[in-house]
Amino acid sequence: MLPQRQARIEKTGNCDTIFFHSTVYMVEHIGAKFDREYANKYDTLSGDIGAYEVWAKTLADRLREHKPDAKAVLEIGSGTGNSAVVLLETVPSIENLYGLEVSDFILLARAKQKGATDELFFPNEAPAYSRQVAQRMQAHKDKFHLIKAAGEQLPIKDGSMDVVFMNQVFHWLEPDKALEEIRRVLKSDGIIVFDESEAQFDFGDTAEGEKIKREQAVDHPFVKSFQENFDHELLRRGTVVEKKPFRYLFTLDSLSTLLEKHGFELVPDANGSAYTTATVRYSLVQAMSFAENGARMRIMRQMPDLLKTPGVADEIVSATMENTKQEWGESPNNADGKKYGPSQAAFVARKKPATIS
Ligand SMILES: C[S@@+](CC[C@H](N)C(=O)[O-])C[C@H]1O[C@@H](n2cnc3c(N)ncnc32)[C@H](O)[C@@H]1O
Repeated sequence: MLPQRQARIEKTGNCDTIFFHSTVYMVEHIGAKFDREYANKYDTLSGDIGAYEVWAKTLADRLREHKPDAKAVLEIGSGTGNSAVVLLETVPSIENLYGLEVSDFILLARAKQKGATDELFFPNEAPAYSRQVAQRMQAHKDKFHLIKAAGEQLPIKDGSMDVVFMNQVFHWLEPDKALEEIRRVLKSDGIIVFDESEAQFDFGDTAEGEKIKREQAVDHPFVKSFQENFDHELLRRGTVVEKKPFRYLFTLDSLSTLLEKHGFELVPDANGSAYTTATVRYSLVQAMSFAENGARMRIMRQMPDLLKTPGVADEIVSATMENTKQEWGESPNNADGKKYGPSQAAFVARKKPATIS
């Protein structure tokens, strides 16, 4: 039995890790205009670190384990289509994958589906990862249907989906509205497959949770050192950035209670755990590329004025990288020569059977 206590969704005040979450900028600030440069950085980062692939594969494993015959799948927040391609490749039962996305990232997903990234980027200037995903998508493109809409108002028929899938998305949704809608569109035996990163999900006081907190997340030595160096470089130039907190921090209890409120229950994984942990491990090269693109996305998102003076952003990024590389280079390697990166908790929830009173 999973613990079912009082819901506790807290606004967080101390997290400003931007690496995987900056697409909300697209939604809040860019709106209808497709920002080529931002999309380029986003997909370059996704390709360099490979984290979304690892997480999407873990979610796909859980999907197959709990719903091996899934035919109709809705992906909320399908972004630029990077998890969609993993689903299409690894879940052969899927007949129709509906990719729902609220931001203009959907334009890049559409271009990948058509195999035509040159429509958005000058010929051969699309990120290598965008082109690679576009190529992989060609074998499955007829099963993929893109819809521009918000996760809180699904333009989908009642009881029509076997699975609702979300990779790094749930924390951006208004949870009550979204879960009400998800419940409506799922078949009676339908499931939700989703994940939350250590920045949004508190792994708790278990031995595993302690390990994750020690080695990753905001306390991860690399992230810490990168943030400190970046802030230091900005401060030297008199720039102070207001830190934007994440909307939600879930605990296992609060998530279970929230799901229960909407008629869902978590389904343990094959090992009996309430969630499956998926951890990415970085080489030094991957970590540095991850940080460099993260720094550039952060400047574009939060400090666009810096871009007005040529060379300033470059100077900040190189100074940050130089210091971070020295510090990170000194931290010990794991046995395989790689160091830890961020973790996700991958969940499956199913509709609770109605009780007859
Ligand atoms: C971190 S990205 C993940 C993208 C994609 N799932 C992947 O794995 O590549 C989060 C995505 O959620 C989308 N999003 C944010 N709020 C949303 C909402 N209310 N409805 C639908 N999508 C939303 C963002 O535009 C962004 O594309």
